[in-house]
Amino acid sequence: MKHNMYDHLGGSQKLEQLVTAFYNRVSQHPELKTIFPDDLTETARKQTQFLTQFLGGPPLYSEEHGHPMLRARHLPFEITPRRATAWLTCMEEAMDEVELEKELKEHLLTRLTFTAHHMVNTGDREE
Ligand code: HEM
Repeated sequence: MKHNMYDHLGGSQKLEQLVTAFYNRVSQHPELKTIFPDDLTETARKQTQFLTQFLGGPPLYSEEHGHPMLRARHLPFEITPRRATAWLTCMEEAMDEVELEKELKEHLLTRLTFTAHHMVNTGDREE
């Protein structure tokens, strides 16, 4: 058994595949695409850095950007409960696309569900 989830995942290449598959979905999602930049290159680079350290790999995100303070960094955007669900759906589909192992998928998704709900900073709009 590898000692952390990052090693277990299969390193940087697998994580890059996951992040690419994720933002491909985000860029097409009606609830999400409006709040993300058109060019997701830099967003994807930062997300790969963040997930590397989130999974127990080297602290790439903090080395370049300082403390993640993710909730604060998301305050400029309207993160509604519906967007949190959409984000998690894109992530789960991306995990399936890159065939993340079941145990790893479930573990990571559980942690990301917690984080995603923590990012919510406004209610859903009434329609
Ligand atoms: C940045 C949306 C959840 C990690 C961003 C940005 C948006 C966004 C619009 C800015 C993109 C840019 O300007 O490049 C959302 C929405 C979420 C969500 C709608 C739904 C709950 C999460 C979660 C994580 C996360 C769960 C943790 C894995 C990040 C990181 C950045 C980021 C690391 C880059 C921050 C930086 O600029 O340094 N997110 N996010 N987000 N998000 Fe999220």
